[in-house]
Amino acid sequence: MSQEHPQQAAADKPHPTDPIDQVMRYHIQTKHHFNRYARSLGYLDWANQPDPFRRYAGAPLIPLPLLKADEEPVSPPYRAIYQHGAVLCQPVSFGTLSRFFEFALALSAWKRAGESEWALRSNPSSGNLHPTEGYVVLPHINGLELKPGLYHYASKEHGLELRAEFVAEHMARLLAPFPQGAFLFGLTSVHWREAWKYGERAFRYCNHDVGHAIGSARIAAATLGWNMLLLDGMEQNTVAMLLGTNRFDDFRDAEPEHPDCVAVIWPVEEVRSKELGVRSEKNEIPLFLDPTLVKELVQAPWHGKANQLSRDHGVHWDVIDEVAEASWKVQGDKSTVRLPLSRPSPWREEGTGEGDAAPAGQIIRQRRSAVAFDGKTSITSATFFRMMQLVMPGVERPQLERPMPWDLWPYDPAIHLLLFVHRVDGLTPGLYFLVRDPKKLTFIQEAMNPELSWALAPGAPHELLEGDARRLAAQVSCHQDIAGDSSFSFGMLAEFEGLLRERGAWWYPRLFWESGLLGQVLYLEAEAAGVRATGIGCFFDDPVHEIVAVKSLSLQSLYHFTIGGPVEDRRLMTLPPYAHVNRGS
Ligand SMILES: Cc1cc2nc3c(=O)[nH]c(=O)nc-3n(C[C@H](O)[C@H](O)[C@H](O)COP(=O)(O)O)c2cc1C
Repeated sequence: MSQEHPQQAAADKPHPTDPIDQVMRYHIQTKHHFNRYARSLGYLDWANQPDPFRRYAGAPLIPLPLLKADEEPVSPPYRAIYQHGAVLCQPVSFGTLSRFFEFALALSAWKRAGESEWALRSNPSSGNLHPTEGYVVLPHINGLELKPGLYHYASKEHGLELRAEFVAEHMARLLAPFPQGAFLFGLTSVHWREAWKYGERAFRYCNHDVGHAIGSARIAAATLGWNMLLLDGMEQNTVAMLLGTNRFDDFRDAEPEHPDCVAVIWPVEEVRSKELGVRSEKNEIPLFLDPTLVKELVQAPWHGKANQLSRDHGVHWDVIDEVAEASWKVQGDKSTVRLPLSRPSPWREEGTGEGDAAPAGQIIRQRRSAVAFDGKTSITSATFFRMMQLVMPGVERPQLERPMPWDLWPYDPAIHLLLFVHRVDGLTPGLYFLVRDPKKLTFIQEAMNPELSWALAPGAPHELLEGDARRLAAQVSCHQDIAGDSSFSFGMLAEFEGLLRERGAWWYPRLFWESGLLGQVLYLEAEAAGVRATGIGCFFDDPVHEIVAVKSLSLQSLYHFTIGGPVEDRRLMTLPPYAHVNRGS
């Protein structure tokens, strides 16, 4: 008789009432095992495939210009986005907002195979289901003929739908604590889009996708010389109010949106003028919006009713609603971060790799997930170490002086990498580990097999074990060859139970956001290095942990990722992203 896994026994206990226990129960319940996948429908209900495009019927649509690559604002060299101060700061305008959304959330191509056609976007998504919706909250901006208000980004039309018209003075009051020129960017998730295919595990995937979208937005902002900071001190009710996801009448027959996060974005140039004394009273930015001001702000005319994405919903996965509720952030905090008083020192050395001189826009537009790898391509150790360097968050620096995109993430890292190195010139194949915060080394070592070597590889990750990990990597990644045929792949191990108990259940989705953000950096870096990446949400959770004998729930693998020489699928036709849109010019 097979013995029940102790964690499974925990998942089978009567329903816990403590939100931390609830999110841990969800996590355990949605693990894939060699002999049993997390619960889902088990087949695809094509008749009810969710529409990937949300629209708000009745909300005025303001088209954004469809800019050619060489039209202003042209994007800077890819490598420049990683160098402090190297990108010319652009004012907020129709053109720059258009670029921002193009690089963050827009369509990047249509793919066609036989009768089927589907759109890809600048941000990747598990199963290409795109649960993430994007919003901006704009104040009155000189020269920009847009009403102050909340806008939903309609990716198929590349336009902004006016959801609510906010009073300019209320907006100004709300944004007063932020640098001049600041506006807000928000993300929500339609859980149903992922649940339709993936069932109970879908809450994880939605949050990976939020992390990727945070990353694609931060990088889009960086191409315009803009800064971005996650306002994660806010309670979630305030996020819901601001983004209108609590307006139940607007979603009557439509699938609800879960409010995820709000970030502030500002042109860095404005901060410099502040440093010169223009707004010298402010050198701290709050990590929250004043809830009383948000309440006042949303007493405004609203427009539009959300479209229904599936005719019928078949099975409803209650566990997703339960984990969403358990991880709801009920208490805000009033943290602030300091604005740099002088120009921060450079984050990075000058780049020397292939693709460094390519425009950032080209790298962003060409980003794709590899569907297969050639099992041959090696990358150089310089490329590998640069990738490792880019995911290091610079914890030793003050928040806004950390390297992009970690400057937006107001936390120390909680995700570390268990690397399966297959083909990196100069590196012995085997298992390696990247500790992204030196303070955590002892904790991580103690949470894993004490017999691992922890030899320090020259440059960064620790070498744990030598050997051929190709089969193992594929096997634990739901038998997907992409994890073994690449140059390297890795599991993202999150500090788990201790951190959840310390910070609260609301921290659970943040762990996935951090993993998606990290993945987004490497999706682009892989393109710049002439190789390609793929995120891997399907893996067997505990078999991964067993490789390094992780103790109980101290660390948990949340996301896998693989990078190598891609093999194109030549059966697919690629079409331009906006040929279907006629702007009449
Ligand atoms: C969170 C996440 C999980 C994913 N999991 C897998 C996976 O397990 N296997 C796979 O082949 N692709 C996986 N992908 C890649 C997606 O299928 C891909 O992003 C999507 O089809 C869109 O294509 P694009 O990335 O080329 O735009 C994943 C992507 C994300 C963001």
